[in-house]
Amino acid sequence: MKKSLSLSIEEFMNVMPIAAAYIVNDKVSFNTKAQELTGYSSSDFENLDDYFRKVYKSTYVENIEIYNNAKKRDFGQTARVTFPTKNGESKIIDFQAKQFENHEVWIFNDVTEKIIAEERFTVLFNHSTDAYLLFDENGIFDCNPAAVQLLSASSKEELLKTQPASFSPEYQLCGMKSVKKNEAMIAQALANGFHRFDWIHKKLTGEEFPVEVTLNPVEVANKKLLLVVWHDLTEQKRTQKALEEEHLRNFHASKMATLGEMASGIAHEINNPLTVILNRAQQIKKQLAPMGPEFELIGAAADKIYKTADRIAKIVRGLRHFAREGSPEDKLEVPLYLILDETLDFCRARFESSGIKLSLEYINISDAETEMIFCNQIQIEQVLLNLLNNAFDAVSQSPGAWVKVIAERNKGSVTISVLDSGKGIPENIRTKIMQPFFTTKDVGQGTGIGLSISSGIMKSHGGELVLDTESAATKFVLKFPKSA
Ligand SMILES: Nc1ncnc2c1ncn2[C@@H]1O[C@H](COP(=O)(O)OP(=O)(O)OP(=O)(O)O)[C@@H](O)[C@H]1O
Ligand SMILES: [Mg+2]
Repeated sequence: MKKSLSLSIEEFMNVMPIAAAYIVNDKVSFNTKAQELTGYSSSDFENLDDYFRKVYKSTYVENIEIYNNAKKRDFGQTARVTFPTKNGESKIIDFQAKQFENHEVWIFNDVTEKIIAEERFTVLFNHSTDAYLLFDENGIFDCNPAAVQLLSASSKEELLKTQPASFSPEYQLCGMKSVKKNEAMIAQALANGFHRFDWIHKKLTGEEFPVEVTLNPVEVANKKLLLVVWHDLTEQKRTQKALEEEHLRNFHASKMATLGEMASGIAHEINNPLTVILNRAQQIKKQLAPMGPEFELIGAAADKIYKTADRIAKIVRGLRHFAREGSPEDKLEVPLYLILDETLDFCRARFESSGIKLSLEYINISDAETEMIFCNQIQIEQVLLNLLNNAFDAVSQSPGAWVKVIAERNKGSVTISVLDSGKGIPENIRTKIMQPFFTTKDVGQGTGIGLSISSGIMKSHGGELVLDTESAATKFVLKFPKSA
């Protein structure tokens, strides 16, 4: 103990584990750590003034003034200065001066690394295109400008004031409630250290957008926080969707081409024997006509044979017609009744044989023959057929089933609705039914493309296909543009 107290100031300074300088009789001396830090040694300076001149060169005057002012205030505060080292590097140093046994001692705290790291962090935080948000138990605690922009908030303050739950729609794509799923995701992040997943977010404007979320539980100043990073996937999903749609179009086109080939093959094969049946039935009728009333029953049977065969011929023609793929540019003024009659005739037999009542109603249309729609007839008939097929599937198992088609004119535009007596569409899948390949049907029963193709066709006509959620019965509506 005694020995250590008898250390000279120089010895004492050199065993100190931090960089420091001390001034004795106007002479500046550096300890070993300070020499390592600055590259200078004590012999480099003649006196204090010489120290300031040699170290700060052109900024000598300002720095000596900072020093003198600090001294006047009894070195009350730490001074941060940019210190040029002997070999020309620039260090950021926090200076503190203390009186120690009648000597002035300077302590050098090199904060260069820390400041650079902070600056780097600030650049990352402020200029990242990914959104960074820090959550505490009360909500969003801090966020970067990208978060403000992504959520279409007017300022950071507005964003921090908003309840985090309002940045998500009620349901996620998997059908789970956002609130519930969020809890599960946080639990996983806490258990595993971090967690990454896809999420649908909602801007303050209400617009929804897909993001990849990373959750990182972190600690800042002893406080447990959640760092949330959002990577916007809008562009990526858009490209992916375009690819899927392209794939879907090709798939549909090849399905239609195969169907078309098959249909014309079948039509060809069936048409010849059908013509024979039609002719014979007519012959029988003709030969029976003069033979008196006792042959009426046979005549009626021949008539029935003729009508049934004629219906088969129509269906075969329809099959060829529906399998033809028209281009969207092939638009004409087509009478509304023709679209409805052709499509309904094509499936009436199937509905009737399954005990489903199929009906057609016109509202606000006094003369169906003059009501025209500017469209690609084949495509619109395909859309209607898709809706009728879906309605058929939805009601086919239930007694008293019905499907109704309503054509309606209101305020200059025309709609065609397809309603059915089925159970309807559960709320959690409503946003998904128009997506390509979304189906609730068994393999082989449905491909999940009917509605997405139909919706695409309606869009290419400047109209839309919507599910009317206000209606008590399941109701899909084809809306044609006003000019139609
Ligand atoms: N009228 C309806 N009633 C109940 N659910 C329906 C109705 N129409 C469509 N859906 C639901 O929407 C899903 C998607 O329909 P979509 O027509 O796109 O495909 P799909 O009928 O399953 O297959 P595809 O049309 O390719 O044969 C269906 O699987 C079904 O769950
Ligand atoms: Mg379908």
